[in-house]
Amino acid sequence: MLPLVAKEFAGWTQVWAPAKVNLYLRVVGKRPDGYHELATHMLPLPVYDTILARMAPTLSLQCDDPTLPIDSTNLVMKAALLISQRHATDSGAEIALRKRIPHQAGMGGGSSDAAATLVCLNHLWNLGLGKNELASMALELGSDVPFFLGKGPAWCTGRGEDLTPLATPEAGLHLVVVKPSEGLSTKEIFARFKAKPMGAAWRADADAETGSDFNFKQAIAQSAQAVADTLRNDLEGPAVQLLPALAHIRAELMAAGAQAVVMTGSGSAMVALAADATKAVSVGQRLMLTRTPAGPVAVFVASTVPSNTD
Ligand code: C5P
Repeated sequence: MLPLVAKEFAGWTQVWAPAKVNLYLRVVGKRPDGYHELATHMLPLPVYDTILARMAPTLSLQCDDPTLPIDSTNLVMKAALLISQRHATDSGAEIALRKRIPHQAGMGGGSSDAAATLVCLNHLWNLGLGKNELASMALELGSDVPFFLGKGPAWCTGRGEDLTPLATPEAGLHLVVVKPSEGLSTKEIFARFKAKPMGAAWRADADAETGSDFNFKQAIAQSAQAVADTLRNDLEGPAVQLLPALAHIRAELMAAGAQAVVMTGSGSAMVALAADATKAVSVGQRLMLTRTPAGPVAVFVASTVPSNTD
């Protein structure tokens, strides 16, 4: 699924930008720079936005979702402006964004679009930028953006940018992702979380809660059942306060036969694990019929394939 690749198609350079889910997210503490130190697992999900670009005298963006801005507040435009200012001041491009990943979902749509834009324009403008140059621009664009330049499932620390590949179980994970129509703001969710301030003396290796991280990492090397027993997201508390319908979705997923449920990222999508692919489809179908207090839901069903972490 990853890494992102640029392909020529009908006169356009095209990059498919996948979604992600977090199966584990521990907020370690609040850093002196205002960001939160995280210990999290991120997994690409086969739901894709598409970035298309072709040569033009100036930079412009169009999008098939009319609710999204197409000015410099859109992460695609931010990424295009950044790479052009740093590496291609005389180049322009007509960029088209086809949006399929729900926004304000914790599914990384905006971050993935930003990473895909860097890869797309690096190819279109023939810049030859390497991994490190792309990764440093990626982190300027957002904490999750470097993940999408990586190779697949990863254990992520720092703001989320320090990546260690972490394979999923051989037998596969069977996921049902449910996104209520209402979204949540990452900034607001982090602001509501009561994180402990991290003093200068804090050290990763002395972090008292790393036992929980260790258990998750052991579980993901073992089996889907072990993963189901170790799911965690510290941001779910503040998210449920803002959007109580999330508790309803969790209960519906469990009643439909899910093994375990966790919110992804800062929400509002919820991820359920199912025992097998057939069960995942039946859980997804049941959720499609559920009337949640937050209105209709979008449902995505996917299974992982063994990941190559070489
Ligand atoms: O990095 P990004 O722009 O995606 O983050 C959006 C907001 O989420 C940040 O402005 C910050 O308030 C919060 N955040 C955080 N710690 C992180 C990631 C995000 O506090 N590791």
